[in-house]
Amino acid sequence: MDSQIPRHIGIIMDGNGRWARQRGHPASFGHRAGVRAIKRVLDACETLGVNVLSIYAFSTENWSRPRAEVRALMRLFHETMQREIDEMHRRGVRIVVSGRREDLSGRMRDRIEEAVARTAANTNGVLNVCLNYGGRAEIVDAVRKLLAEGVAPSQVDEAAIASRLYNPDLPDPDLIIRTAGERRVSNFLLWQSAYSEMLVTETLWPDFDVEDLKAALADYASRVRRFGGRPKDQAAAL
Ligand code: IPE
Ligand code: IPE
Ligand code: MG
Repeated sequence: MDSQIPRHIGIIMDGNGRWARQRGHPASFGHRAGVRAIKRVLDACETLGVNVLSIYAFSTENWSRPRAEVRALMRLFHETMQREIDEMHRRGVRIVVSGRREDLSGRMRDRIEEAVARTAANTNGVLNVCLNYGGRAEIVDAVRKLLAEGVAPSQVDEAAIASRLYNPDLPDPDLIIRTAGERRVSNFLLWQSAYSEMLVTETLWPDFDVEDLKAALADYASRVRRFGGRPKDQAAAL
C-alpha cells in the first residue's frame, strides 16, 4: 500500500454554527449540512484508499451548549444512524463508536449497538464515530479498566493503556484535519495523535468537499514523518 496515502484520517468537524449563522439560520441547520459533508468525505475516502475515518461528532464538553442545540444534535445523530445504516452495511463499511455511551439515551445506545454489531464483520473501511468522546475521558476510562482488572503497576506500559482504549484495534491516525480555522485539539484522540500530522483548513465543515480532501492528502504526501528519529538521507550526512 502507498504510504503517501494516510491509512487513518481523523477530522475535527468544526464550523457548522458559523456556516449556519452566515445564512441566518440556527446552528442545527449547519449540523444537518455537516452530515451531508460526512457522506461526501466517506465516499471520497473509499475512492482514494483511506481505510479508517474518525469523525469528531460530539465532545464530552459539548454538553455545555444550549439545551436545544444538544437535543437537536442527539436527534440528528439518532436519525442519521437509523437512515444510513443499511447503505453503510451494503457498502461493507464497519462502524465503530468511541466515547462514553453510558451518558447517552437508551435509544441512542440501542442504535449504536445495532450499527456496531451489524457491521462488525465488514472489511471495506472503518467509520469511527466519536460521540460523547473526550481524549482525557478515554484515558481515564482505560486507567479504570486497568485498576478494575488488578493490573500491577510494573505491568502498566504504553501497550497496556493502548489496548484499553475504546477501539484498540484501530491504527493511530496518520493525519488529523481541523476545519474552520481553529488551531487546537479540543480533546480529540489525545493518546492516538502523538505523532499524527496536523492540518488546519479555513473551510467550514459543511463546505468541505472532495477537493478539500484531495488538497489535504497532497499536503500530507509532502511531509516527512520522523517519529523522533533521523530520516535516512540526513543520517548519512552526519
Ligand atoms: C462543530 O461545529 C460541530 C459540533 C461541535 C457538534 P460547531 O457547532 O462547533 O461550529 P462553530 O464552531 O460554532 O462554527
Ligand atoms: C470540537 O469542536 C468538537 C467537535 C467537533 C465535536 P468545538 O467547536 O466543540 O471546539 P472548541 O470549543 O472550539 O474548542
Ligand atoms: Mg466549534
